[in-house]
Amino acid sequence: MQRNHNHPTIVTIEKVIDETPTVRTLVFSDDVMPNVLPGQFAMVWIPGVNELPMSVMISKEPGKAAFTVRKHGPSSTGLFNVPVGGQIGIRGPYGNSFDLKEGKLLLVGGGTGLVPMMRLLTFVKSTDDVTVLIGAKTKDEVFFEDLANSLLDPPSNVIVSTDDGSYGEKGFVTDLVEKLVSKNHYDAVYVCGPEIMMYKTVQSAHSRNIFVQASLERMMKCGVGICGSCCVGEDLACRDGTVFDGEHLSTNKEFGHLYRNKAGILENY
Ligand SMILES: Cc1cc2nc3c(=O)[nH]c(=O)nc-3n(C[C@H](O)[C@H](O)[C@H](O)COP(=O)(O)OP(=O)(O)OC[C@H]3O[C@@H](n4cnc5c(N)ncnc54)[C@H](O)[C@@H]3O)c2cc1C
Ligand code: FES
Repeated sequence: MQRNHNHPTIVTIEKVIDETPTVRTLVFSDDVMPNVLPGQFAMVWIPGVNELPMSVMISKEPGKAAFTVRKHGPSSTGLFNVPVGGQIGIRGPYGNSFDLKEGKLLLVGGGTGLVPMMRLLTFVKSTDDVTVLIGAKTKDEVFFEDLANSLLDPPSNVIVSTDDGSYGEKGFVTDLVEKLVSKNHYDAVYVCGPEIMMYKTVQSAHSRNIFVQASLERMMKCGVGICGSCCVGEDLACRDGTVFDGEHLSTNKEFGHLYRNKAGILENY
């Protein structure tokens, strides 16, 4: 029977990788998820807990995909604690994907916002000149640096910045973005992470007429454009995105300023 991507498919966790004390990657086998496009997400059902939107992480093993989860509230902690042999439900993939440009590319990821960037790296060409920026608060929260290097050819253009300077460059990753886009002409900038980080990155690139796209992470419940909980102004992040062009985002008055909480009430960032 053909798979209905709106019905949860049950998968079994085969491997758990501790990336940091609060971030884990859960690997599973599946027919569909290993082949999703960069930027696409799945709705992940943790039985008895909740259902969460998660970017689909790559696995280097054929036929496998993964989720990389940071434990935060009850739902993400429920996913974080699923052991090897535990089962979860996945539906999707949902959402659009990054437009793949060629040439000089800048990929910017903060925290688990690095997940779609790792998949994007598997799509770039060997002739592209790619720089990856990894932003973290502190050394303990840096992950995927080795993975990014292993996916890049040559493996030299991965720059880490920590807010407190405990590893890599000191300061916000957005300061590094501003520095790089003021000195270089990029053919495209891609970003995923905390919305303030995406907002500043979009501003830095778009103000210099550099093509830029951001993958928005908003509160999601249905994941398929019905409930409205993920709206950003007139846009539904799950249905119209999650990837939006800087050109479009620069006209959206909520992006970078306002978000909807679990009750759907607008709050300031
Ligand atoms: C497209 C997309 C991709 C994501 N990819 C990842 C990822 O790869 N790794 C990762 O760790 N996190 C990811 N997130 C964020 C993750 O879904 C939230 O961290 C998680 O929902 C909040 O977990 P919690 O335990 O704090 O939620 P709880 O406080 O337990 O609340 C859960 C409920 O609120 C919703 N919710 C709460 N916060 C968010 C949020 N920030 N975004 C969306 N829904 C929320 C959930 O869907 C659910 O209905 C992604 C979010 C989106 C929208
Ligand atoms: S999550 Fe329901 S409309 Fe987007």
